Order: sequence, then structure tokens, then C-alpha cells
Amino acid sequence: MSKILVTRKIPKAGLELLKAAGHTVNVWAGSSAIPRSELLKRVKGAHGILSLLTDKIDDAVLQAAGPQLMIVANYAVGYDNLDLAALKKRGVQAANTPGVLDGAVSEQAIALMFAVAKRIPEADRFTRAGKYKGWEPELLLGMELSGKAIGILGLGRIGAGVAKRAQAMGMRVLYYDVKRNEAFEKETGAAYVSIVDLLKGSDVVSLHVPLLPSTRHLIDARKLRMMKKTAILINTSRGPVIDEKALVAALKARRLGGAGLDVYENEPKLAPGLAKLPNVVLTPHTASATFETRDRMARDAAQAIISVLAGKTPPNLIALP
Ligand code: DGY
Repeated sequence: MSKILVTRKIPKAGLELLKAAGHTVNVWAGSSAIPRSELLKRVKGAHGILSLLTDKIDDAVLQAAGPQLMIVANYAVGYDNLDLAALKKRGVQAANTPGVLDGAVSEQAIALMFAVAKRIPEADRFTRAGKYKGWEPELLLGMELSGKAIGILGLGRIGAGVAKRAQAMGMRVLYYDVKRNEAFEKETGAAYVSIVDLLKGSDVVSLHVPLLPSTRHLIDARKLRMMKKTAILINTSRGPVIDEKALVAALKARRLGGAGLDVYENEPKLAPGLAKLPNVVLTPHTASATFETRDRMARDAAQAIISVLAGKTPPNLIALP
């Protein structure tokens, strides 16, 4: 019987799978992310860890677990919280949950785009506050999206999902990725452009890159200056992809139209001044938070652990460097 540490309560579909496979499951039931000291203590003797994106799984954690540890399955598609080199060094496999959250995250990017363009939260606050005194010709004007250009930075499954949804709404699609995708261009009419052309030519820019050393502050003060003054920046990828302080400065100075953010540079903290801006819509890293998606994420992470402990290779293993 193997011991599995689950670092936070996840949907029961995943926990039940682990139990049904005969494993002993230890779930951190705290109301916030497992404290580091608790993680280092509880991980001892674990054969598998089901971690969250809020847990830093580094060499110290792997060492504290012990040599029997075989697999770390991250309950997320992003895995910048895992030290891949340490995992490789210790012969521990890693898995994530790709594919099952593309729809939910794409929908969130589109929802944020609409919320900012049509000023929905502002209009909602205005109406609830009793400020609506009758129809006005120029009340709360926003940006019409049909016919506008959306720039997709990072054309993975989620970026492609956003592009297709935007195209269906009558938007023109520009994209940049390290890999050009001609089949996608044929299918959707999307145009492959440089990052600079994408920033200069888009009315909405939506970020879909993983967090890597090369993508940290990919959107910095210089890049923000390249964007249209009316443009909307959407981020459902990872917070540090944007220099958040520079973003606040650009928004304050009205050098950018607005932003819709689900992720932050120093989560859960927000850059000073961000929450005070009227032209931003902020959600608490909930892009994948649908009942359906979180259930699938729980199952896929659990199944990866079950497979590796049974000597099998799950489809969602992460290639270690
Ligand atoms: C992920 O899976 O990486 C997402 O950020 C979770 O919402």
C-alpha cells in the first residue's frame, strides 16, 4: 500500500480514485495553502504527491519525502512551481493536467475581454448604487469587439481556443508563438506576426505562454508602450509574464485602454494601485474553476499517480530536462 500526500482538498473524484486504487491518502485540510513546514513534515514517506500550483516542490521537499517517492502530479497545467532538474536528479516523475482546462480558461479570457471592453463590472456597480437615472446617449461607452484585432501570444491549446472563440465573434486574429502553425492559419485565417507587430496591431492582447525564464516580464514597460492606447491586455497564463508595476503605471497614465487579469505577479498580492483602477477587471486565478474542469483535473492528477505507482506511463507525464 502506497502513501499519497494531497496538499489541499481537491474534488472528491480524484481522492476516490486514489482510495479505490488502495492507496493511503493524506489530505491537507487547511483553509489555505499548506505551510512549507507542514509540507516538509507531511511529505515524509510519501510515494506520490498530488501538489497544487501554490506549492513549491523543490529539492528540499523531494529530500524530505525520501527515496521511495516516485511521482509528483501537479493539479494544474502550468508547472513552474516544480523544480524539474531536482525531480530528474532524484528519479521522480512529474505529471500535470493538460487538455482538460482549455475550454474553461479560454472562456475566462473571453469573459475578461468582454468585461473590460463593455465595462460590465463598472456598469453593475453603477446600477446597484442607484446611479442609473435614465437612458443616456453616452453613458458608459465601451469598445465594440466585432471587427477588432485580437493578438494571441502563445498558440498552445488555450491560445488556440481563445483565437477560435474570438474569430467566431467576428474578430481578426493575429498570433505569435515560437512555432508557426500553418494548419491553424489555414483553418482560421489567423495571421502569424512578430511580437512587435502583434502588440502594435492588436486591439486586445491575450497572453497564453508558460512561465519560463524567457517569458518572465515578457510584457514590460517597453512592450506596453508599443500597444495601442486603447488596447486591452488579458492575462490568464501566469502573473510574472507581465511587469505588474509597469502595467499599473501604463493604466494610470491612460497609455493603455484596460486590462483583464486572472493571475498576478506576486499572488495573492496585487501590485500597489492595481485594485484602485477603474479600467481593470480582476479575478482570483479562477480561470479553470468550473465544476467540470476541476473534476477532470482531480481525476487526471490522481490517475497519473496511480499509473506511475503501478509501473505504467500516463499520457500526462512532463518531459524532464
Ligand atoms: C493551471 O492549471 O495552470 C491554471 O493556472 C489553474 O487555473
